Amino acid sequence: MDHDGLFITLEGIEGVGKSTAVETVAQAMREQGREVVLTREPGGTPIGESIRALLLTPESSAMAPAAELLLMFAARAQHLAEFIEPHLVAGRCVVCDRFTDATYAYQGGGRELDESFIAGVEALVHAHLQPDLTLLLDAPVEVGLKRARARGDTDRFEREEVVFFERVRSRYLARAAQFPLRFEVIDATQSLANVARELGRQLHARFT
Ligand code: TMP
Repeated sequence: MDHDGLFITLEGIEGVGKSTAVETVAQAMREQGREVVLTREPGGTPIGESIRALLLTPESSAMAPAAELLLMFAARAQHLAEFIEPHLVAGRCVVCDRFTDATYAYQGGGRELDESFIAGVEALVHAHLQPDLTLLLDAPVEVGLKRARARGDTDRFEREEVVFFERVRSRYLARAAQFPLRFEVIDATQSLANVARELGRQLHARFT
């Protein structure tokens, strides 16, 4: 897809400080004089947020992995058409909390769905678009889960076992190794201030 915007995604397992990092990235890009919009997946549109509710409620415990995969991409197709692509075409910087790397990590790694199946749906939904930069916040699973569960009510994913998140984390790291130009891996065990400094450095090096 031809556009003058910038598409930045943030990834990582639960509890690595992604929400704070999204704000830090948005602020840094505004300081570079860019118009910035923030969004998240699954979600980002009214239809996407309805799909998100269905995906995250513990009441969906019977959901089949293939249904989960297709709902992630259904929300994403709507998000691309209604939000991400129009903003990129208008030249804006879109900062998105999770995108398709999360599907490879959670549905591919976590749920152990065949990667070629995921790649097929990816090609259908966004063959023409990839993020310009993906920031992967990485921390050991115990560190992330402890922080996520301390927040209270857990969603359907947060109830998964440690081994599930070990597979998610290692698939994220494998994706980063596979696409080294697109990914930056950030050590999320550092203090929030240090993570913010490192994010700022990466964005400055890439985009100014
Ligand atoms: P969040 O906690 O970052 O808002 O994301 C909600 C959950 O959805 C999180 O546990 C990761 C999961 N997820 C997937 O399993 N696959 C995906 O493609 C996306 C975008 C999120």
